[in-house]
Amino acid sequence: MEYGRFDDANREYIITRPDTPLPWINYLGCQAYFGIISNTAGGYSFYRDARLRRISRYRYNNAPYDLGGRYIYLRDEDSREFWSPSWQPVQRELEGYVCRHGMGYTIIGSTYKGVEAQTKYFVPLDEDLEIWQVAVTNRRKTPVKLSAFSCIEFCLWDAQDDATNFQRNFSIGQVEIEDGVIYHKTEYRERRNHFAYFACSEPLAGFDTQRDVFLGPYRGWDRPAAVERGESFQSVAHGWAPIGSHHVRLSLAPGETKQIVFVLGYQENPNDDKFDPPGSQIVNKKRAKPVIAKYLKPASVDAAFQALRTYWDGLLGICQVETPDVHTNRMVNIWNAYQCMATFNMSRSASFYESGVGRGLGFRDSNQDLLGFVHMVPPRARERIIDLAATQLPTGGAYHQYQPLTKRGNNDVGGNFNDDPHWLIVGVAAYLKETGDWSILDEPVPYDNEPGSEQPLYEHLQRSFRYTLERLGPHGLPLIGRADWNDCLNLNCFSDTPGQSFQTTTNKEGKVAESVFIAGLFVLAAKELAAIAQRRGLAEEAAHYLAEGARMEETVRRHGWDGEWFLRAYDDFGAKVGSRECEEGKIFIETQGFCALAGIGLNDGRAAQALESVRKHLATPHGIVLQQPAYSRYHLNLGEISSYPPGYKENAGIFCHNNPWVIIAETMLGNGDAAHDYYARINPSAREQISDLHRCEPYVYAQMIAGRDAPTHGEAKNSWLTGTAAWNYYAITQWILGIRPALDGLEISPCVPKAWPGFKATRKYRGVTYHISVTRAGEGNRVALSVDGARVSGTIVTPPADGRTEVFVQATLS
Ligand code: BGC
Ligand code: NOJ
Repeated sequence: MEYGRFDDANREYIITRPDTPLPWINYLGCQAYFGIISNTAGGYSFYRDARLRRISRYRYNNAPYDLGGRYIYLRDEDSREFWSPSWQPVQRELEGYVCRHGMGYTIIGSTYKGVEAQTKYFVPLDEDLEIWQVAVTNRRKTPVKLSAFSCIEFCLWDAQDDATNFQRNFSIGQVEIEDGVIYHKTEYRERRNHFAYFACSEPLAGFDTQRDVFLGPYRGWDRPAAVERGESFQSVAHGWAPIGSHHVRLSLAPGETKQIVFVLGYQENPNDDKFDPPGSQIVNKKRAKPVIAKYLKPASVDAAFQALRTYWDGLLGICQVETPDVHTNRMVNIWNAYQCMATFNMSRSASFYESGVGRGLGFRDSNQDLLGFVHMVPPRARERIIDLAATQLPTGGAYHQYQPLTKRGNNDVGGNFNDDPHWLIVGVAAYLKETGDWSILDEPVPYDNEPGSEQPLYEHLQRSFRYTLERLGPHGLPLIGRADWNDCLNLNCFSDTPGQSFQTTTNKEGKVAESVFIAGLFVLAAKELAAIAQRRGLAEEAAHYLAEGARMEETVRRHGWDGEWFLRAYDDFGAKVGSRECEEGKIFIETQGFCALAGIGLNDGRAAQALESVRKHLATPHGIVLQQPAYSRYHLNLGEISSYPPGYKENAGIFCHNNPWVIIAETMLGNGDAAHDYYARINPSAREQISDLHRCEPYVYAQMIAGRDAPTHGEAKNSWLTGTAAWNYYAITQWILGIRPALDGLEISPCVPKAWPGFKATRKYRGVTYHISVTRAGEGNRVALSVDGARVSGTIVTPPADGRTEVFVQATLS
């Protein structure tokens, strides 16, 4: 079945059936006010923090799924028929339903019995509000009288509490209605200094603010009583469930179009200026009113929309490519970059799979995400790095997560994920390579956010490195702690009690279980840190990092090699994990990809052999599975990985995040065909034709595709918020296409399929636009570069000395 198509020229995905296999979502907002929106207008909004500052309510894992949204109802006053132009929640059969997900906006339109309605949803730049711009057109030959109802259900701010603490929450809801604007002010009377508002550009025929009055007892969103009878109840919420609903009457001559603009927004007031008049309990609206007035005007809305488009043109314009493969082009030029920005903004907090209450920003996750977004928003990447580093602990270890609103480490999860500290090195290295902004290393950053503990960021990197050296196990490999990259390889957990968190339960001392993956990561971090130290004039220190890296490499060769592939770990008994000696879980992807990309075994044939083993044991047409054979039963000594049924998630699912490690490793061995082949297997655009199997959005990566042991092999889950976005972007742009920021300039070193005659790219880098043209003269990956017509040696293009901002690079591959 076909559910939609790409419109690359407009940077949109056009969905043409509302009943997609799963809700296909998009994100609104890119600074502080955010929302998720599905192709049927489901979703919710929040300010900065999806858990603590949730503006509207959403019902996760409900039936039907995706309920709670930015809903518009239309009612034909003569026939009394009503419908949702976004299909949900009424689900009337529509004509010409189209949803266009674009960069930071979504437009949903349809026609029902000659009445066309289209709503454009977006968040203007620099504003804490969202706009729903509705256009209704009468395509009939006769006049039509309509009622339009808007509806949003307010969340009582803390989404976790909102979904659980009913004994309190059913009594605290409060609203004000003034000049047709609905103000949601629950808890404003006490400690909150913020409220939400919902405004409408047209004169109101009525309003509702109490959900159960609007819906009527025991009714659902598909047939609200107010809509059915064609008239609001003017309900004022006292407790229970506050909503915002406006009722507007429209009369349209044949061919006539009318616009209604709705504005849903968030406003803060200073604590000493909360009420107007002072001393009253009435919300001070003087800051909100001018903003509302501005955006109720269609001209301001149109200008804000143009500005948003320009903003995204700017971000995406930083790296544009033209290759022989349409799927590569559209993912690199549009959707993969866009997804990287979503992971920057959301980390793993709010999607159709991430409820916004569970996970803040991950230390590991956000550092890796930098690889995908640093070129688009360098100043914000800098701020993110500082925030992350400030949650590092004095030991060099790190809180595994932090809450974006408070920026404090999350005590519920704690630390001791022993890979975490090294991702800071990887992230900072990526920042330096992109920007050349060495000043970041001198920035004073506290440990554990403790005032007075500030040390230069560089010291944080030193402590990250030491953290591992101080935590080596019996074979000299890094101790794994609670887990490494694989959150589900919990070798110190030994949990036999239902409900315990695999990530935070540790029943073993943790002095035995070792991770070969962290060893690989350490080797990479050692090289990155040495290069940084070298340029800071610390030659001795650089030599120390290289020596430790080399020593770890030797340890991996001695204790981390299984004969045909890299081992994965040693468990708490000192037994091998990911070895041919194991009954199941004999070979894992992580160490094959990561050790090779860290350079281990590139010279002695082991990397090549490991990749050959990947091909033989792990590769499937839908991507590379995480390990084989899948665990068929729960292994107390391995933890969560064996809790999943075979083929899902970390238990032999295709965990898309680490497929690019293998892709990068293939490029390091010069195998452009293999690299791009793996890339194409999980490229969502290339999977569009199998949407009934894949089920997730064809425009963004999902964390996981079910592996070959699963009954649903090929089915994707957990789209959008995954390290897969950054790693694939990094793999295709920097390693396959080979346009690679380096500390001293832009490296051009492609490793593309033999059949490609070449490709073109434009890359803005440190204030210069590089026009890159790559042509194939032979089958290999040897690069000959000329810059502005002059031959240069090596593969690095250094920034022009004479201040030119346009540079033409010709690369010939042979
Ligand atoms: C998932 C992992 C995830 C972890 C985070 C596990 O249940 O399988 O992918 O990283 O939870 O808490
Ligand atoms: C998802 C987590 O966000 C990430 O940090 C982890 O590396 C992977 N799952 C693998 O377990």
